[in-house]
Amino acid sequence: MKTIEETLLNRTSVRRYEYDKIPSETLDFIYRAIANTPTSYNGQQFSVIAIDDQSIKEELYAITNQKQIKTCATLLVFCADYHKIDILAQKKGIDNPHFENTLDGVMVGIIDAALAMQNAVVAAQAAGLGSCCVGYARTANPEKIAEILKLPEGTCRLCTHIGHTQRITRLKAQTTAIISHTPQSLPYRRHGSRARTIRPNHIRI
Ligand SMILES: Cc1cc2nc3c(=O)[nH]c(=O)nc-3n(C[C@H](O)[C@H](O)[C@H](O)COP(=O)(O)O)c2cc1C
Repeated sequence: MKTIEETLLNRTSVRRYEYDKIPSETLDFIYRAIANTPTSYNGQQFSVIAIDDQSIKEELYAITNQKQIKTCATLLVFCADYHKIDILAQKKGIDNPHFENTLDGVMVGIIDAALAMQNAVVAAQAAGLGSCCVGYARTANPEKIAEILKLPEGTCRLCTHIGHTQRITRLKAQTTAIISHTPQSLPYRRHGSRARTIRPNHIRI
């Protein structure tokens, strides 16, 4: 296992993979890292689908045109999941607050799923695997992707895939201007612009 420093500072998106399968203990480590994701209110408002089936990967590739989807060993689809709470509420006979109807509720699901995805990326990197997040799983024909993955109502997806690194495709550019030490030094701030407060829990969608 790589050190934290090696893992975090050398990570880069990998889009070419070897054909080998990932050992089950490595996958188990990644799944445990996903399960240990911090979530809002401990609500775990996300679900993950692990796809090894090549025919499903090919179908998703046809929609997204992202080659990495068909060449990776395992495709992990991270879904913000509002269906789970529906089922739980029904079982317990309580009203479902329908978080997905407010911007704050949507953010909670997306943030939970995105943190889980990042945990998977970091765990894969630490275990010597490569990974790449794929936003096209969210935007390219979402209805068709939901149909292929048999997603229930109330789920939306982000996705990432993991596999043995074949080649690091590029050296990373130096990342600058991301950390500001005072609010005044925030990059790309318009001179004289005033703060605009957005209160997501007041916005219904
Ligand atoms: C939410 C999200 C969606 C992304 N979608 C894609 C994608 O559809 N295809 C792709 O090749 N890379 C995708 N990436 C990877 C980014 O292009 C990549 O992280 C960025 O260019 C920085 O490069 P690095 O990961 O090597 O540091 C995505 C990354 C994130 C976080």
